[in-house]
Amino acid sequence: MNTKVYDTNRIPNAPQIAKTPAKTGSSEWLVIAALLMLSFIPVASGMFRLNQLTSGVSITPANARFFTSPLPVIVHIVGSSLFAILGAFQFSTSFRRRWPRWHRVAGRLLVLAGLLVGLSGMWMALFYYPRPVGDGDFLVALRLLFGSAMIGSIVRSFVAIRRRDVRGHRAWMMRGYAIGLGAGTQTLTLMIGEMIAGKPDELSRALLMGLAWVINLAVAEWIIRNRSALQARTASASAAAIRS
Ligand code: HEM
Repeated sequence: MNTKVYDTNRIPNAPQIAKTPAKTGSSEWLVIAALLMLSFIPVASGMFRLNQLTSGVSITPANARFFTSPLPVIVHIVGSSLFAILGAFQFSTSFRRRWPRWHRVAGRLLVLAGLLVGLSGMWMALFYYPRPVGDGDFLVALRLLFGSAMIGSIVRSFVAIRRRDVRGHRAWMMRGYAIGLGAGTQTLTLMIGEMIAGKPDELSRALLMGLAWVINLAVAEWIIRNRSALQARTASASAAAIRS
């Protein structure tokens, strides 16, 4: 049976234990800080690109595509910066409990930003020419695959919360966020790959970027499963306590 849990701290038919005071623990702040650090390089490079686009630097083959068609990259940078930064705070349980209205408002903004990130990312992958050196068809295919997966996850997360399925909502949003934050992990996989084996060629560059998405999704899946297992254990312990 698919039991819906509307509040992860609330076990149906069990006497509710008083909520712990809304306090953001240091471990939650560590998670938020780690997520913000992971997105720092792509967000900062986005600010750099926006500055270039608005301050009229000279156009070169390396940046021509952004000037020929600036809207997608502007939408992508603004959307992804919002998505990465706001999203980091959405996963903190105590933050959410303390400011539930903030979570709802930021959540709606995040859905919009996340969809724009995926759509603009896929649009650029398909139509931005000339492609940057090292970007080939395989990378385009990966971007289309993970871009669609990100959009699909966000849509499923939105549908889940409309049905008040908090657990499904959280799991799908975590997957969507993990794919979005692939941009941060890619800076690490590319850097480490280059340190170990020298400058990557087209195929290894695509593989290193794909690896970043796989790592992020694996971590998200691990968290989702661990949390579900913990909730199941708590629920059966409470049910046993009621019966006895
Ligand atoms: C929160 C997540 C993300 C951040 C912070 C981010 C950031 C950025 C930034 C700053 C740029 C501009 C790069 C430059 O100026 O050279 C960019 C470009 C791009 N991004 Fe993202 N991105 C994110 C997610 C994604 C996703 C999920 C996709 C896959 C669909 C994607 C696909 C692209 C593509 C295709 C480009 C253009 C690359 C080029 O032509 O040089 N991004 N991204």
